[in-house]
Amino acid sequence: MFQVINHSMSPEFLDEVREITKQFFALPVADKKKYLRQVNDIQGYGNDMVFSEQQTLDWSDRLYLSVYPQDNRKLKFWPKNPDSFSRTLDQYAMELQVVTKTILKVMTRSLDLEDNCFSDLYGEQGKMNIRFNFYPPCPRPDLVLGLKPHSDGTLITLVLQDKEVEGLQFLKGDHWFRAPIVPDALLINIGDLVEILSNGIFKSPVHKVVINPNKERISLAAFCMPESHKEIEPFERLVDESRPRLYKKVTNYDGIYFEYYQQGRRAIEAART
Ligand code: OGA
Ligand code: NI
Repeated sequence: MFQVINHSMSPEFLDEVREITKQFFALPVADKKKYLRQVNDIQGYGNDMVFSEQQTLDWSDRLYLSVYPQDNRKLKFWPKNPDSFSRTLDQYAMELQVVTKTILKVMTRSLDLEDNCFSDLYGEQGKMNIRFNFYPPCPRPDLVLGLKPHSDGTLITLVLQDKEVEGLQFLKGDHWFRAPIVPDALLINIGDLVEILSNGIFKSPVHKVVINPNKERISLAAFCMPESHKEIEPFERLVDESRPRLYKKVTNYDGIYFEYYQQGRRAIEAART
C-alpha cells in the first residue's frame, strides 16, 4: 500500500467529500433506512452481508454505491440529504477514475509490461464501487473490530481516510502497523487481482480497522474491479522457471470474495496453484 499526493483534488474538495459522508451518517436512522440495502443486493445502506448465524459482525455502518459503469448506478440509493451528496459523489468518482487509470499505468511500467495491461482489464468505464464507512466509538474497543482482517478483492482500492481519527492497520509479518493520516492523500491498496496478475510480485496486504473508544471515524473506499466475466490470471511474461506460476485462472472473483470474507478467510487462497 502507499499514499498518493498531487492527485489534482484540492484539500477543500476532499473535505467536502468527508463532510457529505458525515452528514449522511448523522441523519436520523429512519431517514437512512430509506436507502436500506435489500437482502440480495450489494448496493444501499446497512451492515455486513449475512451468510451465516455464526459470523462476527463488523462494528460499522456503510453505504455501498456503484458509480461506474454509469449503468450500474442505482440512484434510489443515492441520498437526497445532504442535497449536495449526488453532485459531490459524481465529481469525486470522476476524479478517482482519472487517478485510477494513472496508477494502473505506472504499475504496469514498474513491472516492465505494456502500459495498457491492467487498464485493458479495467476498461474505459472501469467498474468502481464506493463504500462509505462509519465506525462508531465503542467503550470496549478491545472486543470489536470495525473491519475484520481481510485483503481487498479488487485490482486496487483508493481510500480517503478520516482527517482526525486513525484506525486502519496493515499486517506485515506478525505485526500490525498503523496507516498514518496524511490529510490530503489517497491511500492506495493493492488488491488480490493485481497480486494474481503480477504473479505475486505485487502483494495484496491484509488489513483491518480498529475502533476508537471516544471518537467516531469515517472513510471512503473506492473498489476498482474488472468486469465480472473477465478472466484473471498471471501475465505470461511474469511466469518463468525462476518464478513459477502461483495462481490459477479466476473469473467472477467478487462472487466468491464475500463468502470467504465472512468466514474470516482469504479468497486468494482458493486461487493458489
Ligand atoms: C475497506 C477498507 C479501510 C478504512 O473498506 O475494504 O479496508 O479505513 N477500508 O475504512
Ligand atoms: Ni479493505
